[in-house]
Amino acid sequence: MSDDKQPLARIPLAGVIGSPIAHSKSPQLHGHWLKTNGIAGHYIPMDVSADNLADVLQTLPKMGFVGVNITVPHKERALALADLVTDRATLIGAANTLIFRKDGKLHADNTDGYGFIQNLRQNAPTWQPELGPAAVLGAGGAARAVVASLLDVGVPEIFISNRTRIRAEALQSEFGKRLTVVDWVQAGNMMEEATTVVNTTSLGMLGKPPLRVPLDGLRRGALVTDLVYAPLKTQFLIEAEKMGCVTVDGLGMLLHQAVPAFERWFGVRPNVDSAARAAVLR
Ligand code: ATR
Repeated sequence: MSDDKQPLARIPLAGVIGSPIAHSKSPQLHGHWLKTNGIAGHYIPMDVSADNLADVLQTLPKMGFVGVNITVPHKERALALADLVTDRATLIGAANTLIFRKDGKLHADNTDGYGFIQNLRQNAPTWQPELGPAAVLGAGGAARAVVASLLDVGVPEIFISNRTRIRAEALQSEFGKRLTVVDWVQAGNMMEEATTVVNTTSLGMLGKPPLRVPLDGLRRGALVTDLVYAPLKTQFLIEAEKMGCVTVDGLGMLLHQAVPAFERWFGVRPNVDSAARAAVLR
């Protein structure tokens, strides 16, 4: 066979599926990692409607895609469409990472809880989750991953508070006795004992109202983290810092949750460092 008849080496493709998708930072992050690791691949954002999701997931592997990230509003549906599901995705009830296996099977994972914990481990290395209860604000999709992963790393008890109480109660009935629901108007009371405090609500995000939970009960030295990363320093973290708490912003969760997917798809474990942070902030 002459050289021009040689089959082209396949350029691996991956991407992120959601709707809308323009706001996603994942293309910047994966693009940065592809470049810095010298990998000739592409990572593509795709706006896909719920009606088309199943067809798109069948077609992409035939086009050379090795996998995709899944974001709002398709995380639950993607899990339902998978042939194989990791335990952590089952526990969270949603998929954020899909792998198109060579045998044609669709493999679903959820790395949100992993990303949440890795962010804390990297940026607050002295954090000891087993030393005291956690206080979680919010009970939406992000809170599910946070609650599951906090229980997994040995937090003895979780106080959870949400504007819509019934959503917090739903998490309690699912995750069991280690969860106690606190009324939203009394959320400040949860701070007194907590050694880990997490905002999983969208309050404090650019364009949203601030989170107005009284923080004067916060313990000195408690670890306080916010899943919001725009702005990086939310008012919630600024207040917590003033109270002598250790604070960790939410950007690292976004970076760390992407690591297992990139490694699976492209065969290299990428670095979560200042260059990766800068890539998503550009
Ligand atoms: P995500 O997947 O990011 O968690 P979500 O499921 O829509 O998104 O959840 C958003 C969270 O922010 C919820 O806890 C929501 O509270 P409700 O369950 O009461 O809606 C919380 N949230 C959003 N806007 C809020 C507001 N103005 N006041 C209080 N909580 C708010």
